[in-house]
Amino acid sequence: MGKTSIRLMRSNDLEPLGAIQPEGWKDIRAMFAYYLTYPACTSIVAEQDGRIVGSANGTYWGATGWVGPIIVDQRARGQGIGTLLTEAVMEQLHKQGCSTLLLIATELGQPVYEKLGFAVQGRYCFMKGGSELLQTVREGPVRPLSPSDLPAIERLDREASGEDRSSLLRKLQASGGLVVTDGNDGAVRGYFLRSPWGLGPIVADSPEAGFTLLQRAMAMEGHKSAAFHEDNTAAAEYLLQAGFTINTYASRMVLGESVAWKPQNIFARISGSFG
Ligand SMILES: CC(C)(COP(=O)(O)OP(=O)(O)OC[C@H]1O[C@@H](n2cnc3c(N)ncnc32)[C@H](O)[C@@H]1OP(=O)(O)O)[C@@H](O)C(=O)NCCC(=O)NCCS
Repeated sequence: MGKTSIRLMRSNDLEPLGAIQPEGWKDIRAMFAYYLTYPACTSIVAEQDGRIVGSANGTYWGATGWVGPIIVDQRARGQGIGTLLTEAVMEQLHKQGCSTLLLIATELGQPVYEKLGFAVQGRYCFMKGGSELLQTVREGPVRPLSPSDLPAIERLDREASGEDRSSLLRKLQASGGLVVTDGNDGAVRGYFLRSPWGLGPIVADSPEAGFTLLQRAMAMEGHKSAAFHEDNTAAAEYLLQAGFTINTYASRMVLGESVAWKPQNIFARISGSFG
């Protein structure tokens, strides 16, 4: 085996990435194609003798940054390449000024991140269900998102995540979404944004607004799965009552300053690499 080198990913690396596709994952070429269009992301590859053996991404949001995905060719695992890629992403995000690094770990990834100092901060819960919920329309003051809702959405999101995810919210809102408004004063109480990779983020400042968005967004998109932090017990109870079951869990891991967030306000996470 040759020496491993790390370099920035280029668009002509996307096709050969297919050779390191992890089993059971969505097409990683499409994932990395998206990161290459989003300036907050820095994607890298690991090479041995000119062949790509791994890839990774870091997302810079200011005080916080997200690590992942980290992927190593199945045939090249256990040689320290995953650790090398993770360290390179961590170094990049620290250099950019992040004081907190976050990630969502798979079972294979967690020991690698623990050795690098990350600590578990609860788990994300993945639920799936039948079409019952999609058919029973939840009434409520819901309307399509308009670009003028952005400042309100950014406020809700910052309060819920404790992070400045506004650059991604601006990118996602171009594909549309929904907002729940207050019946009295019309203020935005929750939002859903469509995403290219699955059910997009749902954030709301009350369980009622969150449930309405979960129901409407899943019906609109035809999705029968959602993921959120286990501390949002209201979301789990709502979906269990609607016949959903818990499919799996994945650890949220943190390195550095803790983030003051409100997991109970997040009814659907963005994705594995953005939290
Ligand atoms: C998770 C993943 C990226 C790890 O990649 P990897 O290259 O095997 O990781 P490393 O080699 O750095 O570490 C894995 C193990 O090899 C050991 N190792 C590290 N350096 C080593 C070296 N030079 N020689 C031998 N073993 C080594 C590590 O101690 C670790 O052992 P442990 O499981 O007992 O902790 C890889 O399994 C993968 O791509 N999985 C599928 C996708 C995935 O789940 N990604 C994580 C998303 S959160």
